[in-house]
Amino acid sequence: IKRSVVLGIGSALPKRAVTNAELTEKVDTSDEWIVQRTGIQKRHIAGEGETSSTLGLAAAEAALKDAGLTSADLDLIVVATTTPDLTFPSTATQIQAKLGMTHGAAFDIQAVCSGFVYGVTIADKFLSSGSHKRALVIGVDTLSRIVDWNDRTTCVLFGDGAGAVVLEAQDQKGDVKTDRGVLTSHLRSDGRHGPKLCATGGPSTTGNAGVITMEGKEVFKHAVGMITDVITDAYAATGFSSADLNWFVPHQANKRIIDSSAEKLGINPEKVVITVDRHGNTSAASIPLALATAYGDGRIKKGDLVMLEAMGGGFTWGSVLIRW
Ligand code: ACO
Repeated sequence: IKRSVVLGIGSALPKRAVTNAELTEKVDTSDEWIVQRTGIQKRHIAGEGETSSTLGLAAAEAALKDAGLTSADLDLIVVATTTPDLTFPSTATQIQAKLGMTHGAAFDIQAVCSGFVYGVTIADKFLSSGSHKRALVIGVDTLSRIVDWNDRTTCVLFGDGAGAVVLEAQDQKGDVKTDRGVLTSHLRSDGRHGPKLCATGGPSTTGNAGVITMEGKEVFKHAVGMITDVITDAYAATGFSSADLNWFVPHQANKRIIDSSAEKLGINPEKVVITVDRHGNTSAASIPLALATAYGDGRIKKGDLVMLEAMGGGFTWGSVLIRW
């Protein structure tokens, strides 16, 4: 059978890092409150000329370099983003053009913080079906552009960034114990929760992008259960358990949600990759940024069993289990 094997990974952050102390100049908050409630110490914020397509392109180029490939080797680009440069054309086709690629197919998908998990799952369906050979999956968001900078309950949480992986369809034995690549993925959504975490506008309503509003406690209340459910689904599909994981790379929204999920699942804290302290919640970018960090510092190695997980607006949520 064909599985989607990770050939390369890359990431990109805006130049400017903003500390909690800086935010206290804008809204009534404190470093202590933000660190205690979220674990966030700083985040990167896109400046002039830095957009989802420029950050996504930088991450894509780094991933291609890591894979030793060029855009000529790709036939699919999937970009997960909720903050496209334009309403259309898609950020994926813009990045495709910037990569000098005129063949293959490129499109965006939108699942907010679950975007990367959705994007990898979709690309994996193309690759494992045999229809496509190599996919670039990019998670990128510039949520700072749709944050209400007067709302202290949301503006302290988010950051901007991008991460990308190159996936290749490779023949494997069909044994999850030894195969490399995406071993299983589980996507969920429940639109009834939409108003709890949403933007106040859009192209078809207000004609502008709106700003983020969130019932933080409500999101928190559902997060841990939803996350642990889809990870339990991944265990049921493969026979693995938390003890088998080498790395747990969750969406980086809030350290308390990550810690509670890991504890409930019985995952050793030493296996949990945390970057929310320095990146904040970068939405679709958070998982590939965390993966790139743990791969870059030598933690994630070939053969490691890596669990990805995310939950976000929609609500959407999902898990992807990969053997690196
Ligand atoms: N600084 C200081 N005080 C603040 C701040 C702030 N930045 N923000 C809120 N407060 C105050 C509130 O006004 C409230 O004051 P009150 O008691 O006088 O009314 C108090 O702090 C407590 O507020 P809560 O909202 O109850 O705080 P909570 O402990 O729930 O933490 C938080 C808030 C961090 C937002 C938390 O609920 C959370 O992380 N929720 C989940 C968010 C999330 O994971 N989102 C993921 C998906 S994001 C996506 O998909 C785009």
